[in-house]
Amino acid sequence: MFISFKQTGETQEEKALQQTVPHLRVSAEVPRLKGLPLVGNLPQFQRRPLATLLRVAREGGDVARIDLASERFYLLSHPEHVRHVLQENPRNHVKGYDKVAVLLGNGLVMNEGSSWRRQRRLMQPAFHRRRLAGFAEVMVGETAEMLDGWEAQASAEKSLDVAMEMTLLTQRIIVKTMFGADVAEEGERIARAFGTALRGIDTRFVIPLWMTRLPLPANRRFERALSTIDETVHRIIRERRRGGREDGDDLLGMLMGARDEETGEGMSDRQIRDEVTTIYLAGHETTAVTLAWAWYLLSKSPDVARGVREEVRRVLGDRTPGIEDLKDLTYTRAVVDETLRLYPAAWMISRKAVGEDEIGGYRIPAGQVLFLSPYVTHRREDLWPNPEGFDPHRFFSGDGDDRPRFAYFPFGGGPRICIGNSFALMEATLVVATVMQRCRLDLVPGQTVEPTPKGTLRPRPGVWMMPRVTGAS
Ligand code: HEM
Repeated sequence: MFISFKQTGETQEEKALQQTVPHLRVSAEVPRLKGLPLVGNLPQFQRRPLATLLRVAREGGDVARIDLASERFYLLSHPEHVRHVLQENPRNHVKGYDKVAVLLGNGLVMNEGSSWRRQRRLMQPAFHRRRLAGFAEVMVGETAEMLDGWEAQASAEKSLDVAMEMTLLTQRIIVKTMFGADVAEEGERIARAFGTALRGIDTRFVIPLWMTRLPLPANRRFERALSTIDETVHRIIRERRRGGREDGDDLLGMLMGARDEETGEGMSDRQIRDEVTTIYLAGHETTAVTLAWAWYLLSKSPDVARGVREEVRRVLGDRTPGIEDLKDLTYTRAVVDETLRLYPAAWMISRKAVGEDEIGGYRIPAGQVLFLSPYVTHRREDLWPNPEGFDPHRFFSGDGDDRPRFAYFPFGGGPRICIGNSFALMEATLVVATVMQRCRLDLVPGQTVEPTPKGTLRPRPGVWMMPRVTGAS
């Protein structure tokens, strides 16, 4: 999972940091959760990871230690400390999840230092709200197509797993916004290849590296999926260059057309491929998980669902939503915000301290891994009264304007804040509005749905719901 880190101190930049941080004299021990000899808190953590993290923070305080076998981690749950790591001193706190590197290469999520800064500068304009406007149509169009299928299910009184439905939907949206019409026929094939690669990555988190090199069928499937992704992306890039279509309106076109303001240089084909896989991976699963939780929470809160339906009726009537409606769909958007508070898809953000630091009066040694968990901070009672309650009003009409910035950080923060946050919020709000306009989703009774903290906070075993047609199509 997040526990596998690259060595720090490898780059010139990191070496310089290690030398320049002044020596600290803070000596108090970071409070820690009581654990067993040798394994520490690992058994508790493996059994109930989220509950264990909440306990670590509640019992240990703003800076608390958790020992997982021989490794120790510090969990920072106070917004000021989160701000310090992500925004105030980001150069001293690096990421580097080495096991996903095989799929993501040197894409934005994995990149560090000056190479990351250059890539971020190049890609930022593609994710500007204005550039995203054209994608609203794809988002609404794909949702409408999904609903046509649901209507057939509804007339046959068949339930469906909305968690799986949301994954398929966000996959189709990201493939279409990325490649436009270029993958019309092979959209399914590339989506399948990405799916296989993602499953391979999940396995790679829990098996040792040497096992990934054995000629096992699963490893072969993984390699084949990577080749399919590479070949498809490189072929599309080649065809576009040959046809002089380098500046398309889709995300790939934006990546191919991006030029460094200082040097005028663009990205290499290899770098474009890495950014494409990164955006695909980072850009659909998180939104799918958020939407799945939104349906679950709405089905448990009929008053809130009624409020959304009323807003959708008032703002849209029978017409399909567009980008210009987002400013009026404020309650729908608050539902998305509140869903991301309770079930932040990126439930854990980790960083490794390059040089020694001081946080909350404690000495943080160089090399220490820090956990920042939106799931934990979003449930602090001092910041969020009735933290377990689903209440979109917290984000509505200026309520909570006095909360510290990092009381809420579902998209991270500082220079490495999620580049796709406007994309995700636009997508989630438009999907909720489009679905609510046409149908009602009732939870199939008798299910126990639990958040499973892996790469994202997926609801397991799924969210089975019965769609009922209510409105315009
Ligand atoms: C609800 C949906 C989403 C959530 C909760 C989410 C969350 C996050 C978080 C917490 C980070 C920062 C991780 C860290 O600092 O270690 C991040 C980074 C990133 N996200 Fe998202 N994300 C979402 C949707 C998207 C979408 C739709 C895209 C692209 C279309 C995207 C692309 C990225 C990329 C490329 C990064 C790396 C940015 C960098 O390091 O410069 N994300 N995301």
